[in-house]
Amino acid sequence: MPAETRHALITGAALGIGAAVARRLADDGWALLLLDRNGDALAALADECRTRGARATALCAELGPGEHWLPPLKAALGTFGYLDLLVNNAGVADENEPDDVAAWQRVMAINLDAPFRLSAVCLLYLRDGGRIVNVASVLARAGKIRNTAYCASKHGLLGYTKALALDLAPRGITVNAVLPGWVDTPMLLRELGAQAAAVGTPVAQVLRNARRQIPLKRFVQAEEVANLVHYLASPAAAGITAQGLVVDGGYTCGM
Ligand SMILES: NC(=O)c1ccc[n+]([C@@H]2O[C@H](COP(=O)([O-])OP(=O)(O)OC[C@H]3O[C@@H](n4cnc5c(N)ncnc54)[C@H](O)[C@@H]3O)[C@@H](O)[C@H]2O)c1
Repeated sequence: MPAETRHALITGAALGIGAAVARRLADDGWALLLLDRNGDALAALADECRTRGARATALCAELGPGEHWLPPLKAALGTFGYLDLLVNNAGVADENEPDDVAAWQRVMAINLDAPFRLSAVCLLYLRDGGRIVNVASVLARAGKIRNTAYCASKHGLLGYTKALALDLAPRGITVNAVLPGWVDTPMLLRELGAQAAAVGTPVAQVLRNARRQIPLKRFVQAEEVANLVHYLASPAAAGITAQGLVVDGGYTCGM
């Protein structure tokens, strides 16, 4: 009897790390439910995954405050049937002043509340032995100036990962977080572009300076984060749970 197709839901799937994860899983024969708020990019990525031979369903939805995204998600999951993997990847990296309540609430809603709400719904569909991978950040373990909301959300996501792993261990479901450093995605270009504009320095120079601070002297590629997610979803990683795995080119290892 042929093995049953494995099913994955990936959030923030249209671009960057999420898209790299989708491509990696598509090449490995997974069926994909792809969620993103960027409908055009999402449709293009779903088409690409189909070209790679995968079954891919696009769900255009904006995660965040409120519950508007829950009914379409539940409907899509009902059709999709079951899940073997949930990748909570969608996130925003907005800077904020320490007293900016609106920014705090927005970042928390997308980076922390949404993974909680989404995982809660997906637990009904996740098969025993399944996987949850939360895409956090090296800022789940460190602070950064003008980033109280982002750092708190990613610290929270790592804590959530560890605690949920204990709740789901009796079902053989593993829950892990990946903690990327600088990854070459649209988010990185937006962030370093804004930094360059703020100090009046050419973007190319800011990018060069950032690369110099990384022991490997280059940004991590989205495909390298995707490889780690793929590994965590594989049978070989069945014994790994409640962990935060860093992929940062050595950025956070030195002084
Ligand atoms: N790029 C980095 O250097 C870096 C470093 C550490 C952690 N991360 C984390 O990795 C994850 C992915 O980052 P990326 O660099 O690929 O980002 P990106 O901005 O390049 O892509 C993010 C994708 O998520 C989607 N998205 C964002 N908010 C959404 C929402 N509320 N609802 C639905 N879709 C939404 C976007 O449309 C986009 O397609 C994020 O959680 C981010 O915090 C990124």
